[in-house]
Amino acid sequence: MAPRPIAFVSTIDEEGNKNLAPYSFFNAFSSNPPIVVFSSNRRGSDNTTKDTLHNVRVSGECVINAVNYAIVRQMAVASVDFPTGVSEFEKTGLTPIPSDLVKAFRVAESPAHMECKVKDIITLGEGGGAGHLIICEVVRMHIAHEVLTDRNRIDPDKMDLMGRMGRAYYVRCSGDAIHTIVQEYNPVSIGYDHLPDHIKNSPVLTGNDLGKLAGQVSFPTLEEIADAREQADVIQALAQHNPTEALHYLAKTYLDKEEVKRGFSVLLGIAKKKYKRIYKKGPFGNPTTKNLGGRLLGGIGLFSMVIT
Ligand SMILES: Cc1cc2nc3c(=O)[nH]c(=O)nc-3n(C[C@H](O)[C@H](O)[C@H](O)COP(=O)(O)O)c2cc1C
Repeated sequence: MAPRPIAFVSTIDEEGNKNLAPYSFFNAFSSNPPIVVFSSNRRGSDNTTKDTLHNVRVSGECVINAVNYAIVRQMAVASVDFPTGVSEFEKTGLTPIPSDLVKAFRVAESPAHMECKVKDIITLGEGGGAGHLIICEVVRMHIAHEVLTDRNRIDPDKMDLMGRMGRAYYVRCSGDAIHTIVQEYNPVSIGYDHLPDHIKNSPVLTGNDLGKLAGQVSFPTLEEIADAREQADVIQALAQHNPTEALHYLAKTYLDKEEVKRGFSVLLGIAKKKYKRIYKKGPFGNPTTKNLGGRLLGGIGLFSMVIT
């Protein structure tokens, strides 16, 4: 499962020793009540359980801190198996600050903290690698002012979160990694199934291009299509040896610029007669859906895997 958010979990034991460890088997599961869950696994090497699990059992509380780029290497140090009772705050140099509603400390350098009460702990197995789901209700959230926009929304670039991929791979969630995708959901959108065949089977348009068109809530009006057909670039495309393909390439330039309605109008600007002539030979292959056949590798240990 990748990328995964990282819970930087702060707890204290029955003697008040501070503990801090990263957990990326982690996510949010409910907004109201606000529930987040992470999983502390038994070690594969010797089947032992971890300090965080012990501490949430005895205290019923924790703080989940966000991990951003600025603290990712200190977070990695906190994942080291230091002996029980050793504070990862000291080992990492991160600063513990008191919480409002729980005894566990917050990480001052982290841009967001969730103070949590543990609602339930579900044991998933007894063997090495078995998880314990630690179900937490967030009772207070702190967000650093510096990561907010002027409308008090979280700015992902300022937040600069890190996610965990497999093994030693991480993803930095800012800059080019951020994509803004606006999808209208009311009224319902057209859907791929209602797109004309020459668009669905286009050798030029990608799955994302088709998604942009399928996500529109209405087709272009006849006026918009007529207007597109009067534009110099469309007239030029229609005069090409293969006008359909030329129009698809032209439409793609608009879709790439997020001028979706315009691109759609261009695509629908193909003259019916020509359209029929070009496609009489059969539909073009769609590069987004072919070659998706699966190859069964057979059972490998715990479960079977299919490579597609
Ligand atoms: C980014 C990252 C994510 C991790 N996620 C998990 C996880 O989801 N579950 C788990 O049991 N261990 C996870 N680990 C390993 C623990 O952090 C590590 O075993 C740590 O020593 C546990 O500390 P504790 O005994 O103080 O709880 C992760 C390590 C890293 C670096």
